[in-house]
Amino acid sequence: MSSSAPIGVFDSGLGGISVVREIRREMPHERIVFFGDSAHAPYGTKTPEEVRDLSFHIVDDLVAQGAKAIVIACNTATSAAAAELREHYDLPIIGMEPALKVACDRGHGERQHVIVAATPLTLREHKFAALMHRFESEHTIHPQPCPELVRIVEHGELDDDDLVMRTLHRYFDGYDLDTIDSVVLGCTHFIFYRDYFRELLPDSVEIIDGNAGTVHHLDVVLESLGALASEDAQGGVTLTNSDTSPRVATLARELLDTGGEDARIPAK
Ligand code: SIN
Repeated sequence: MSSSAPIGVFDSGLGGISVVREIRREMPHERIVFFGDSAHAPYGTKTPEEVRDLSFHIVDDLVAQGAKAIVIACNTATSAAAAELREHYDLPIIGMEPALKVACDRGHGERQHVIVAATPLTLREHKFAALMHRFESEHTIHPQPCPELVRIVEHGELDDDDLVMRTLHRYFDGYDLDTIDSVVLGCTHFIFYRDYFRELLPDSVEIIDGNAGTVHHLDVVLESLGALASEDAQGGVTLTNSDTSPRVATLARELLDTGGEDARIPAK
């Protein structure tokens, strides 16, 4: 494995760009090839078999481009396909996981009340059931599917404040938010909503995501293999997408540059 080879990162669409931003921040010498499958987004309402097929197709392509590791920057694809991908390919495959442990550990032994916001498929899959099983006897966990939040990012409507706040209220008004300790963002698309979540939630509620943990894991794995890019290498990002329209290319670039602030572009 060549240390100068790129890291392949993929997502069902544009959410994984939040992970690319984190890799850029923490591992600036790495080259990244990102593939967003916006033509097939969302994954969160598909069957596990469909998501697996799409994931294999994408990883084949990233491997053909010489990727030294794959980051599945998509909780849904991780839940549905990571195990099979790891069996099939002989390179590190790093996935996402809702950061429930981080949320529960905050209580230092006290019962925590945690909302996990994710896609319907992530919350239905075995991987999440196993996570719930690990923590639910000692903590109160509320799985909350939020599929519309994926659609809004993919359609470039992230700075439509009214739409976003209406949608968040629809998903979260049923909770007594003053009793909640943290909200876990279990979908990489949702990272772009941090400021909106902050506006919705009482100050006492912590907002937690898994991006930093995933990137730390990637760093540790590459280091253990002697595959980190050298410190004089110039890193960079190549953005590719199954939707080749200029609209998506512009939106992807804006999300990479701004992290979702001011991301709106003219509608199709
Ligand atoms: C989706 O395509 O529904 C979102 C994917 C994710 O879980 O990050």
